[in-house]
Amino acid sequence: MLAFLQAAQPSGLPEHKITNMFNPLTTPAKVEFNMGMLEFAITGAIFAVVAGLLIYTMIRFRRRRNDDSRQEPAQIYGSNQIEAAWTVIPILVVFVIAGVSARSVWGVEDASPPANALHVTVIGHRYWWEVHYPFYNVVTANEIHVPVSRNRDRATYLEYKSADVIHSLWVPELGGKTDLIPNRVNHTWIDPSTPGIFWGSCTEFCGVQHANMLLQIVAQEPEDFDRWMAAQQHPQPAAAEISAGQKRFQTAGCWACHAVKGTHFIGKIGPDLTHLMSRREIGSGVLDNTPANLQAWVVNPQQAKPGCLMPQSKLDGTPLDELITYLETLK
Ligand code: CUA
Repeated sequence: MLAFLQAAQPSGLPEHKITNMFNPLTTPAKVEFNMGMLEFAITGAIFAVVAGLLIYTMIRFRRRRNDDSRQEPAQIYGSNQIEAAWTVIPILVVFVIAGVSARSVWGVEDASPPANALHVTVIGHRYWWEVHYPFYNVVTANEIHVPVSRNRDRATYLEYKSADVIHSLWVPELGGKTDLIPNRVNHTWIDPSTPGIFWGSCTEFCGVQHANMLLQIVAQEPEDFDRWMAAQQHPQPAAAEISAGQKRFQTAGCWACHAVKGTHFIGKIGPDLTHLMSRREIGSGVLDNTPANLQAWVVNPQQAKPGCLMPQSKLDGTPLDELITYLETLK
């Protein structure tokens, strides 16, 4: 079993940690990018014409040394042609921009999921992302694995909810921002065309750790994604005897917020830890998931992420070692 767990690691994928909205890699992102570029071109042309005329006028009609300052320039009163032009042209421009925007927005929103689409529910929390795969009974956090999609085959449909305040999710390479709003469900979809790890963040101010509410979308070849999903579907194997670390998990109160599938730990407030060690980051992107960082995080999450809702464990010595040893078995 360990062999396929390791094979499911997303190693070797190109990582897009510095995001780039000029590199759209999904159908919705391309539609939005093309719309943005067209509007940029139209407004850029208007700017060039207005600024050009302004500069030409300033230079051509500037005050010269031997100007007679008492002489008035030629006075022109009204011109039906000019007034019609500067009324009609802006109206046409507004209609074109409104039409293009409406077509792009509806074109993205109206797309219905193909039969083999992957459905993912993302729930925003202060300050992390809960990720559900409802048809697979898998829950994870801060890392959304999706298959690479070609010609919309195996595209991913995302449903956005919030557990507390308004968040907004933006992964620039994969599409525009979508808000996660309490008591409301928003939708979007992605069909990443190339494998990679795409970083995103929260873009709606939601509290002190708003800036550290990072997430990654891991787009894998469909076979790799299927392997990852198979590994995630496994509950933790039931041990004959409860380990010392598991007891610590219970006595330290970790279970009140965290779940581990296959055990009696079913906390719902914090991230599901069933396959904690398969994730790349701790604390929604603030620390790499290494044993030393995991220990530092458990001892005092407020050090790495002041204001996050996870309290200090106050553990040290053997109890801490036992707990970390247990967490590291959650592969
Ligand atoms: Cu969540 Cu800002």
